[in-house]
Amino acid sequence: VTPLILDCDPGHDDALAILLAVADPAVSLQAVTTVAGNQTVDKCTLNARRVLSLAGAASVPVARGADRPLVRPLRIADDVHGGTGLDGPTFTDSPSVPESDLSAQELLVDVLRTPATIVATGALTNIARLITAAPEAAANITEIVWMGGSTDRGNIAPLAEANAYVDPEAADLVVRSGIPFTMCGLNVTHQALVTQDVLARFTRIGTPLARVCIEWMTFFASTYRDLFGFPSPPLHDPVAVARVIDPGIVHCVEANLVVETAGVWTAGATVVDLDGYTGRPPNAHIATHLNRDAFWDRIIRAVSVLS
Ligand code: BDR
Ligand code: CA
Repeated sequence: VTPLILDCDPGHDDALAILLAVADPAVSLQAVTTVAGNQTVDKCTLNARRVLSLAGAASVPVARGADRPLVRPLRIADDVHGGTGLDGPTFTDSPSVPESDLSAQELLVDVLRTPATIVATGALTNIARLITAAPEAAANITEIVWMGGSTDRGNIAPLAEANAYVDPEAADLVVRSGIPFTMCGLNVTHQALVTQDVLARFTRIGTPLARVCIEWMTFFASTYRDLFGFPSPPLHDPVAVARVIDPGIVHCVEANLVVETAGVWTAGATVVDLDGYTGRPPNAHIATHLNRDAFWDRIIRAVSVLS
């Protein structure tokens, strides 16, 4: 069982990543830390608490992280995730899972007294800060598996994916840290489409939690349809959790990865040398192919057992 920390900015797909990390027996979720990205860190933290409350995961600590990128102003994605960051169902009560008294940095240092894998599904601001401020804790990171970047085009700028675009300096620092790094970019997460067949499987679960998931994905589907013309939305973030749960679900190749920070038009571009043009040695695992059936089986099982 892999000890896991989830650093996220919920976010509809982050919410499903949390549920998968809570419920799958292959991982043991030690902490959830939040970062500004899809929405302000206040809203993302409230949403993380909401998702953990729905999952009945009262023992998982939630701590608030960076409220802005390392050097750039924050750009939120309310066009994709709505005014709350998790639009769709409305809740009248407060989430039962509290926010930790610790900051995300303090909680990360605490959990990383022993080795753990970090799945990051937002900007890499918290992880970059940890590597800089607490190298002894960072030395206990077994691996960082990131939903971010792309081997091809972007989704917020022509060549930049949103999590990379929000904080390119953080992504650059983390990639260059030497900590084992896996990138699950758009090229693979666009294989995780919430099709009508997938929605039908959620409907068959038939529980209140499954119905909340359907409402989240229905909202997410509407923005993806309107903004990007996708007939079904891609459920990006759980792909990174699935890679840790079973590496066979997400096939990777080794390649050199650098993050553009200086580009006039390309800040946040993840430059993946799949063809060996540069001669630079491989420094990352790059996800290329999703085993869709195994992925959705894992998600459906997670939501089923939580209900
Ligand atoms: C990523 O950006 C966010 O909107 C999603 O939660 C995901 O982490 C996809 O580009
Ligand atoms: Ca996210």
